[in-house]
This record gives sequence, C-alpha cells and structure tokens, in this order.
Amino acid sequence: MRKIFNRLYDEDPYEGAPLDDVEVDMQGWGSTHFFFREIIGYLKPSFIVEVGSWKGRSALHMADLAKAAETPNLEICCIDTWLGSPGVWARKEQVADVLKLRNGWPMLYFTFMKNVVESGHQDVITPMPMPSDMGAQVLKRLRARPDMIYVDAAHDYDNCKRDLALYFDLLSDDGILLGDDYETWPGVTQAADEFARENGLILVGTRSKFVLSKNIDHVHAMQGVLAEIEARRARVAEAKARAEQLRAGDEAPGDAVGQSTSETDDTNPVL
Ligand SMILES: C[S@@+](CC[C@H](N)C(=O)[O-])C[C@H]1O[C@@H](n2cnc3c(N)ncnc32)[C@H](O)[C@@H]1O
Repeated sequence: MRKIFNRLYDEDPYEGAPLDDVEVDMQGWGSTHFFFREIIGYLKPSFIVEVGSWKGRSALHMADLAKAAETPNLEICCIDTWLGSPGVWARKEQVADVLKLRNGWPMLYFTFMKNVVESGHQDVITPMPMPSDMGAQVLKRLRARPDMIYVDAAHDYDNCKRDLALYFDLLSDDGILLGDDYETWPGVTQAADEFARENGLILVGTRSKFVLSKNIDHVHAMQGVLAEIEARRARVAEAKARAEQLRAGDEAPGDAVGQSTSETDDTNPVL
C-alpha cells in the first residue's frame, strides 16, 4: 500500500510508458555506500524519500536492501526534476548526450523509469518529477513523515542548505537523514556543518556521506557503525602497507601473502 503514490496518481505512471527504445543505464555516484546498508538494516524504514535520483541507482539500491530486510509497506519517493544541473547545461559539448536531449528537452526521466522497471521495483518506487522545494511542499501537504531521507540534489551551498532545512523538517522524529558528497563538495560540506551547528545537532560524517537525526540514539548507533568501519579500514590499510614492505624485501615473502590475504578477506567489498 503506497500512500503517496495513491495520493498522487490515478493512473499508474509506469503503465504504457514509452520505454521500448530506452537503454538501461545504471550510472550513479556513491550510490551503494555502506551507510545505505547500515541505515536500512538498523531502521527498516517503510517510507523513504530520495531528493535527487538521476538514473535511479541509489533508489534501486535502497529498494534492494529494504526488500531484503522485509520492510513492510515499503515506499520510496524519488524527487527530481530530471532536468540536469547548471554544470551539465554549461557544457554544450556534452549536454545532449548526458541529458539525452530530444528537441532540447532532457529524456532522463525515461532512463530512470526504464531502470526501475528493469529492476522490478516499480511496486515500491514513486516518481515525483518536480523541484526539491516543491517536492517538500507536496509531502508536507500530504502530511508525510519519512523514516529515511536521502539528500543528493543540488550541490551548491544555498540549495543544499535549503534542502536540508526543508527535508529535516519533514523527517520523522525517529528517522535518519543521509546526505551525499560531504567533504567532496565544499558547498555541501559547509551547508551540512552549518545546518547541524545552527540546530544543535551532531553530524556523523565521513568522506562522501553524512548522517543527521532528531533521535540521539540513532546518532550514537551511526557513530558506532562509522567507528567500526573506520577501524576495519585502518586494519586493512595497515595490512596492505605491511604487504608492500614485505614485497619490497624487508621480510620473508612467504609471510606477506598469508598476512595480507586474511585481513583483506575480512573486508566489505563495497568500501
Ligand atoms: C547527483 S544526481 C543524483 C544521483 C543519485 N542519487 C544516485 O546516486 O544515483 C543529482 C540529481 O539531482 C537533481 N536535482 C538537482 N537540483 C535539483 C532540484 N533543485 N530539485 C530536484 N532535483 C534536482 C538532478 O536532476 C540530478 O538528477
């Protein structure tokens, strides 16, 4: 039972969508980061909102994880204009290809739809083709209170800060907001840090993702997850360095193989 889907659509948007000539194209960035798995495994969120979906890679990853966790009544609302970003439009030599322009209008929405349908997740993914501020207003009018929100739309300071304010306001008191591109986009980092400081929140951040919540227990849980993963990464880095040293002839080569393999096998392949 998808609540938002049923409030928005009389006709199923996937029904009869012109997808025959559209190619599957799963391009994404940081779309399978470990925080998705950790948050969904911990929270089992039924109602997820993604702000900025592009071709759907991260939304489909969340759908895979939430279905595997047997989350009941799952719905993932994907809010995007599917019109690209100022950076893409300012590069004439690639805009037509990147946005799949037809008569000057991006066809990206249909790539998203194709990916959703091919992945078999159209039963849980609700497209909301609109700007992020409008999406927040629509969800507010529908009295939506998402359990999990992934913010990955505009990456400039002003828009990112506005998205954080709008969507943190919508977030359930027991929910978790995950944001992309922390420490990789200066505008995002500044917006996230300022937003946390101004609202007395603890930001749990690592390179490329940050987490915020109104529930301090969730904050502590995510700090624990991050500490554990960082400790594991440090062990792996140490083992690699040791193996390098051994390869360089500092110690007997036989030991090097044994040590590095056992540490590396222990590692999550998505890190
Ligand atoms: C980095 S991509 C999202 C990638 C996606 N989350 C993934 O990992 O697969 C950013 C998306 O945000 C969308 N976007 C940018 N500004 C927006 C805005 N103000 N409102 C809605 N969507 C926006 C763009 O159209 C683009 O599809």
